[in-house]
Amino acid sequence: MYTQALDLPNPDGDSAGNANVVAMNARSEPHSDALQASFDAKVDADEKIEPRDWMPDAYRKTLVRQISQHAHSEIVGMLPEGNWISRAPSLKRKAILIAKVQDEGGHGLYLYSAAETLGTSRDQMLDALHSGKAKYSSIFNYPTLNWADVGVIGWLVDGAAIMNQIPLCRCSYGPYARAMIRVCKEESFHQRQGYEALLVMMQGNEAQKTMVQDAVNRWWWKCLAMFGPPDANSPHSAQGMRWGIKRISNDDLRQKFIDATVPQANVLGISLPDPQLKWNEERGHYDHGEIDWDEFWATVNGNGPCNKERLATRVKAWNDGEWVRDAAIAHARKQAQRDLKEAA
Ligand code: 3HC
Repeated sequence: MYTQALDLPNPDGDSAGNANVVAMNARSEPHSDALQASFDAKVDADEKIEPRDWMPDAYRKTLVRQISQHAHSEIVGMLPEGNWISRAPSLKRKAILIAKVQDEGGHGLYLYSAAETLGTSRDQMLDALHSGKAKYSSIFNYPTLNWADVGVIGWLVDGAAIMNQIPLCRCSYGPYARAMIRVCKEESFHQRQGYEALLVMMQGNEAQKTMVQDAVNRWWWKCLAMFGPPDANSPHSAQGMRWGIKRISNDDLRQKFIDATVPQANVLGISLPDPQLKWNEERGHYDHGEIDWDEFWATVNGNGPCNKERLATRVKAWNDGEWVRDAAIAHARKQAQRDLKEAA
């Protein structure tokens, strides 16, 4: 249901396109040297690959993996901040936070739609999320303990997301690249609202300044880990770069993020919790300390502080929403029947 992939080639598909999608998944691409050469030439020439173009099975699979993980991250990412909507300190902050959380839901929708153009249904992707098989970003498995966390998520988490996602606007797969353009514009607003909320808190009393510093201390290292494992331990990077899906490596993006964020922290008047953080004149970058990769992998593999809670909340939302989906489908069927009658 809800698939965008209604034009996939299978006349036996149901009205929602489900069988079409399953058939598309099951099919293996016909392969020939000429098809491969034409695909490679397009990628080399920086042209976009579109849904109807021939593509290698592994390219399709990699995109479905990455785009669906990304979509899941957006909708699970609504939860830590959603917790604060009813506790926002003013009407203005509440309105901003509602808009931001709603934007994240929208990003999930664009991304699920982009993944559907590759022949995987939204039901399949959500099934993988709800059964715990699919990954989503490690960062959303940490708790939001006070209001400053909401500002820090905007500044650092969305800031890291933008750094990672701007290069994806140039990704070789057309629907993903185009979705990312709008996502990045909205993420930019998210980052700015977070930074502005923190600037206001930093002009407040000592308790407010302490809250900001505490939140930064808790989130800094987790945000650096968001960019993924070091390049040397990143199994998908080399092929992702070759295919033009990834444009900048995990470590290079992490470095860009650190270099951009240190001056912002100085303006804010907070310190970053890394004694080894130091400008290296020779490299033209900040040196930094070691990330705790054991903690990162434990979280990615389901054992972070909030993994179980996040998944349970998603599953409950899916189950509670069943009547809405049923009603939407019944309405669409009625509408289609009415349109048919009028056309006859
Ligand atoms: N959290 C969870 N898993 C992660 C991760 C993270 N921060 N970083 C890497 N991984 C996983 C990968 O998914 C992969 O797992 P798999 O083989 O089971 O699929 C494994 O670790 C190895 O990592 P690689 O570096 O080899 O994998 P990739 O080449 O896919 O690179 C990535 C990882 C940089 C996250 C890349 O997939 C990517 O750019 N994805 C798109 C952006 C995205 O998903 N961002 C998530 C945050 S979205 C967000 O924050 C919402 C915003 O509103 C704040």
